[in-house]
Amino acid sequence: MTDELDPRAAGARRLQDKVCVVTGAGQGIGRAIARRLGQEGGKIVVADRVDEGASQTVKDLRDNGVEATKVLVDLSTLSGAQDMMAAAVEAYGRIDVLVNNVGGTIWMKPFHLYTEEETQQELERSLLPTLWGCNAVLPIMMEQEGGCIINLGSQSVRGLYRAPYAASKGGILALGKVLAMEYGRYGIRVNTVSPGGTEIPDRVTSRLQIREGVMAEDLEQEEGDEYRREMGANIRSQQSLQRRGTPEEQAAAVAFLASDDASFITGDNINCSGGQS
Ligand SMILES: NC(=O)c1ccc[n+]([C@@H]2O[C@H](COP(=O)([O-])OP(=O)(O)OC[C@H]3O[C@@H](n4cnc5c(N)ncnc54)[C@H](O)[C@@H]3O)[C@@H](O)[C@H]2O)c1
Repeated sequence: MTDELDPRAAGARRLQDKVCVVTGAGQGIGRAIARRLGQEGGKIVVADRVDEGASQTVKDLRDNGVEATKVLVDLSTLSGAQDMMAAAVEAYGRIDVLVNNVGGTIWMKPFHLYTEEETQQELERSLLPTLWGCNAVLPIMMEQEGGCIINLGSQSVRGLYRAPYAASKGGILALGKVLAMEYGRYGIRVNTVSPGGTEIPDRVTSRLQIREGVMAEDLEQEEGDEYRREMGANIRSQQSLQRRGTPEEQAAAVAFLASDDASFITGDNINCSGGQS
């Protein structure tokens, strides 16, 4: 982790005093989002189920003068999402922005090789935390008569070897559109940012960690590498900018949608993917 926040945000304070809940903020894109929203003036609720990463993010934010609170929670259940919202409201009195960032494919392989349990675990990782997050925050935002939800999608909806993950992210796109239609009348905006392949230098928790102390079994190295190679080549063949993105580039798209600069944008999706869409 670097000491400096994102230099492209210098001077921008579009989220001054907004209370922003960021899920999965203990590493990767979620951490970069927490940093960017904090740099733009937000008070950040760092939610994750892994203490190590969440504590690092909170320390990093506070060291940079950002007000931040940690909530340790498993977001694969509705009660987890409700506990997170209650903790955020207790800390700061309201929730202006919710970023449902938890997700990420656990396995990469053709769909017929997924067991029923693995398929369920993918939905539990990449669909349910966003569904529950939206469900739990909407009553709070309705009461406030305003708020902004940003969900993380993915380019996997048209990629290889991640069918259950892709189905989760396709569901998230549908969810964003439908909730925008249902809750616009309350002043609530709902949008999606769909990253393309993004380099994560600071992962402390492997995607294979199903829960504390429980690691999923992966394919044999050789077979897994073969699918990963084919998947990567397929992504590169679709990209105009032929490189992986950075977490900061994803965070910049999220910060735009969270801010009043996007006050007339809802039910929409930004493909932050180097042209892979
Ligand atoms: N990294 C990429 O290349 C990429 C590409 C497209 C989309 N995305 C999407 O961006 C988002 C972030 O990706 P990333 O690579 O930074 O993820 P990551 O796997 O590095 O980090 C995810 C974080 O979420 C936390 N988490 C996982 N399950 C949780 C649960 N049930 N409750 C609470 N916390 C939980 C983990 O502890 C971790 O800190 C995901 O939604 C992912 O699908 C990422």
